[in-house]
Amino acid sequence: MAQNWIAPSILSADFARLGEEVDNVLAAGADVVHFDVMDNHFVPNLTIGPLVCEALRNHGVTAPIDVHLMIDPVDRIIPDFAKAGASYITFHPEASVHLDRTLQLIKDQGCKAGLVFNPSTSLHYLDHVMDKLDMILLMSVNPGFGGQSFLPSALTKLRDARKRIDESGFDIRLEIDGGVKVDNIREIKAAGADTFVAGSAIFGKPDYKAVIDQMRAEIAK
Ligand code: DX5
Ligand code: ZN
Repeated sequence: MAQNWIAPSILSADFARLGEEVDNVLAAGADVVHFDVMDNHFVPNLTIGPLVCEALRNHGVTAPIDVHLMIDPVDRIIPDFAKAGASYITFHPEASVHLDRTLQLIKDQGCKAGLVFNPSTSLHYLDHVMDKLDMILLMSVNPGFGGQSFLPSALTKLRDARKRIDESGFDIRLEIDGGVKVDNIREIKAAGADTFVAGSAIFGKPDYKAVIDQMRAEIAK
């Protein structure tokens, strides 16, 4: 299985000091920057776009940037995010009429591609596109806001997704997003996740390194 990655969601960072916040969380041991893009249409909130991604790259961020698109439609913004320095681009199947085409578009732009599943969205969307995936992201909250509670139904879904990945033989990361904390990350890991998004659990505490160290200790148990 892939190496475990801690992916702080900058949704809970102080946007007035974003460059510094990202530097600090990476210095604290984060592996990847989780970048939540919301359009006030697919989800009821509005956040950041390619300009901010590019600004982080210009600021000197070299870590992978994991762009989670909660927007509809997705296709026309993908080249802009690729140019802005996105590493992974993931999107929700409900926001693309042609899944296979959107995944290929991401890969043609030189980025890694992934599909995101809302808590009530079926994994059947995976059936014919496993060969095009670098990441499967399962939402453990309904998307739109940080600071919500982890939905336990995500654990069953993680086990199902893990089984599908292992049976496929493809190298696909299994990411979980929403309500991940020090006190539940161990059972989330046990259910099959290898990439852990955490927003409020990290940025809500003064010592980012202490939280990330505790998370790593829990998943190493
Ligand atoms: C929710 C976003 C998440 C969010 C997670 O729609 O996709 O990435 O920032 O925040 P926490 O970890 O606070 O649940
Ligand atoms: Zn997210």
